[in-house]
Amino acid sequence: MKPKGHCTLTIEGKSFELPIYEGTEGPDVIDITRLYRETGYFTFDPGYLSTASCHSTITFIDGDKGRLEYRGYPIEQLAEKSDYLETCYLLLEGELPNQSQKDEFIEGITHHTLIHEQMAKSYNGLQRDSHPMAVVVTMVAALSAFYHDSTDINDEAQRLLASRRLIAKMPTIAAAAYKYSIGQPFVYPDNGLDYASNFLHMCFSLPTEDYQVNETLSKALDRIFILHADHEQNASTSTVRLAGSSEANPFACISSGVTSLWGPAHGGANEACLNMLKEIGTVDRVPEFIKRARDKDDPFRLMGFGHRVYKNYDPRARIMQKTCHEVLETLDIKDEPILKVALELERIALQDDYFIERKLYPNVDYYSGITQNALGFPSSMFTVLFAIARTVGWIAQWKEMIEDPLQRIARPRQLYLGHNTRDFIPMEER
Ligand code: SDX
Repeated sequence: MKPKGHCTLTIEGKSFELPIYEGTEGPDVIDITRLYRETGYFTFDPGYLSTASCHSTITFIDGDKGRLEYRGYPIEQLAEKSDYLETCYLLLEGELPNQSQKDEFIEGITHHTLIHEQMAKSYNGLQRDSHPMAVVVTMVAALSAFYHDSTDINDEAQRLLASRRLIAKMPTIAAAAYKYSIGQPFVYPDNGLDYASNFLHMCFSLPTEDYQVNETLSKALDRIFILHADHEQNASTSTVRLAGSSEANPFACISSGVTSLWGPAHGGANEACLNMLKEIGTVDRVPEFIKRARDKDDPFRLMGFGHRVYKNYDPRARIMQKTCHEVLETLDIKDEPILKVALELERIALQDDYFIERKLYPNVDYYSGITQNALGFPSSMFTVLFAIARTVGWIAQWKEMIEDPLQRIARPRQLYLGHNTRDFIPMEER
């Protein structure tokens, strides 16, 4: 990268020139790579509010304008015109595939949808009332115990094989986690179905009766996967990059992403949001919860609201709201009380000065819970669906990092506020 210019940092009367780099879009960056070596100072940025951890060409977010683009393509166009596996190709390869590239890619994924029979048996080592995310985290990490021929990160062919195995097997692992939690037999993937339809088939079909996938519902699920596929350097993606920087195998890295996504401040918000809407219950209780969300002394936050980057409406939330209406319409439950609560909560919050001052808007998780609940998933499965979709984003970001010749192990430093050196105190003197 060629610097756009420099800025000057003056510390105790001494000046230091720091290069400035310009991105294709978004904020310029000040390169502090040499800061410690030249000044003896660290920067301090807990939560990384002002820190660019890497350069990337995959996803761009303009939080002020509510823009999200995968490889330059607006999410609105991809959600309307593309499908999830085509979007996977775009995120991984950087360009939309032509028909033969798309067919080859889909064949490469479809070929790997089965999980090792021994792995399927290992679900029995977990309690059936385990949270499905606990099962998925376990099974994704376990992939490195079964697929040793795709763990060498220095072998390009193995990296490709691991990527395709992960994208292909996530729905199978997730569906098995759901079936295991409800005591039903696992359903094998049907490679004649598209990605989203196959997932619905593995979750909701039974060996005892015929099951037909509803096209509108599988299209809605496919769109939900597109919306959740990648999102720049969010917490779980940064976790994958950090794990990958130590050269851990790809399955271990992606399982670290699943673990980070689980938190209610991140991917767990969709489950927390539906639980919140159920707790509110009726439209007349909305003001009570708005009041609680405004109260500094109350830890309650409106789940599905606010975002570190979006200080405008999350473009995914708009598309998700439309998808929510489509699904409820298809299932003839458009008068679902919980949707009325969600719409009223959004209406009041967007007029409330507390939310306006803090630029708090609905995010991708706000309507996804209602939609996935209507599709038949229990709230414990919502973050699992998020993990299925985000797997390709984690892989694309991990691949970009591994292929960067300058990449090295990530190792942040700290501001130490602990004790000065002191001598050990023998037990009799404590
Ligand atoms: C995802 O990073 C990503 O890209 C994530 C994601 C992705 O695709 O990967 O987009 C997916 O994780 C979406 C976010 C899902 N999380 C939630 O919906 C949980 C509820 N939201 C909040 O916890 C919060 O908004 C965060 C975690 C999303 C963002 O937190 P920040 O950026 O650290 O903001 P903050 O906590 O400093 O809040 C700023 C102010 C504070 O008030 P003051 O101290 O300034 O008075 O806004 C308030 C907060 O108290 N605030 C909220 C609020 N979110 C922020 N108040 C009430 N309800 C909320 N939801």
